[in-house]
Amino acid sequence: MAEMLTLALSKGRIFEETLPLLKAAGIEPLDDPEKSRKLILETNLPDVRLIIVRASDVPTYVEYGGADMGVAGKDVLMEHPTAELYEPVDLKIACCKLMTAGKQNAEPPQGRLKVATKFVESTKRFYAEQGQQVEIIKLYGSMELAPLVGMADRIVDVVDTGNTLRANGLIPMEHIADISSRLVVNKASMKTKHARIQQFIEQIRNAVKEQQ
Ligand code: ATP
Ligand code: PRP
Ligand code: MG
Repeated sequence: MAEMLTLALSKGRIFEETLPLLKAAGIEPLDDPEKSRKLILETNLPDVRLIIVRASDVPTYVEYGGADMGVAGKDVLMEHPTAELYEPVDLKIACCKLMTAGKQNAEPPQGRLKVATKFVESTKRFYAEQGQQVEIIKLYGSMELAPLVGMADRIVDVVDTGNTLRANGLIPMEHIADISSRLVVNKASMKTKHARIQQFIEQIRNAVKEQQ
């Protein structure tokens, strides 16, 4: 039997936006992760399977060889710097921006700026580059709430339409990075399954070009 290729995806926008690219590469899952409780999805190709993991766990699964490849947002990859992953294709899906945001006419803080975020590494790097000392408050979601309840002066989060910020009376402030999702590949798999992975990468690259 051909060697198995395992691709790690997260439910929701990454799964949905990767689906057409996989289809163009001849790969179709046999189950829908929104309906099935299965975490391993077979595909029409007997040598390709998908595993469903949390978005922020994709680099970990690929780094440790739980998957040969995965799809992860650049925001997630920036939090997880490692030499163990190749990042061969910008899939140009799940596009958004990493930004700072805050209340429009907020009083300047007394001491250090308090910044609530789940993107601790990118936030540290951004403010360090600005030469500004800040206190970072680690959250796992709903960052928009932190300035509203007086817990933080700023948040760092991904912004697409700006609707979430607006709905919570916040405005986008500084642009930190443009974000899109990337195909990531385990370095050892790239060696041991070279021909098959190279073929997959080329098919996905072509599919991305065709979608532009
Ligand atoms: P979790 O559910 O594990 O907390 P998550 O909320 O980051 O993870 P998703 O919302 O599926 O998971 O986001 C996956 C990726 O999509 C993010 O890492 C980011 O790159 C991108 N993304 C997040 N929000 C948006 C958005 N509103 N519009 C476009 N892309 C987005
Ligand atoms: C993401 C992100 C922001 C929002 C930004 O949330 O965490 O809250 O999108 O997008 P917008 O600028 O278009 O409003 P998501 O939809 O992924 O929900 P989540 O809180 O479940 O992650
Ligand atoms: Mg989300």
